Amino acid sequence: MKKHMSKHTAPADALPPEVRPGQSVELLKQLHILTRDGKLNQDSRRKLKQVYHLFQFIEKLLLELPDSPQGPTLADHGAGKSYLGFIIYDLFFKALGKGTIYGIETRSELVESSRQLAERLGFDRMRFLNVSVAESTQSSELPEQIDVVTALHACDTATDDAIAFGLQKKARFMVLVPCCQAELARALNQSKALNLQRTPLRSISARVASLRSSPVTSKPAGRCSSCSRSSCSSSTGS
Ligand SMILES: C[S@@+](CC[C@H](N)C(=O)[O-])C[C@H]1O[C@@H](n2cnc3c(N)ncnc32)[C@H](O)[C@@H]1O
Repeated sequence: MKKHMSKHTAPADALPPEVRPGQSVELLKQLHILTRDGKLNQDSRRKLKQVYHLFQFIEKLLLELPDSPQGPTLADHGAGKSYLGFIIYDLFFKALGKGTIYGIETRSELVESSRQLAERLGFDRMRFLNVSVAESTQSSELPEQIDVVTALHACDTATDDAIAFGLQKKARFMVLVPCCQAELARALNQSKALNLQRTPLRSISARVASLRSSPVTSKPAGRCSSCSRSSCSSSTGS
């Protein structure tokens, strides 16, 4: 028998109000959303709020799906540490007792750590594929049809690839939060030779430059811990 991490929840009054009834405290700690003593710091509160915000849409969509013996399928592209996938599983798929979540991610160390975490928590219907979004359309590890496609701050053109994936997999729903800042910043850098001074792009360029250096929107090191880009818009560096 598999030994799973305890899903024991601490007394409700000892936890921040953001932690929902029945939610795995162990998961939130393993994702470093909660500290060891069950506290939320400002960055993780923001990340949790972001994921809950998406979850409220995704939950409604999952409830709209026709019932099927195998349950719903969801593919999360550019999964990073899979905050989104884990929280959707914990809040919806776990109690449902069927359905599968697939995390698609190019960074092998993130895929491996997600696999290990899912195993430790007993989240048996989570799969993690170490392929690009584009490659995943051909993967034999994925079913022919996927019900819901998500992509939260997938870098560069990965969101476009996620849309192509969704069309090919006849997805019923796609929930996409593009990461356009890296692409925009690169385009602006490439356009340095152009004289932007008298165009509206000048103020956009200045705004992007200030966002990139702002301590509110970027980490001191200036790089996202997932995609290693200084211009990534995933502010908590998932
Ligand atoms: C900014 S992070 C977002 C992670 C996660 N979705 C979140 O919001 O917490 C983007 C992730 O997408 C991955 N990624 C970038 N391009 C990709 C691609 N073409 N296929 C799969 N993963 C990709 C990166 O390695 C990184 O982990």
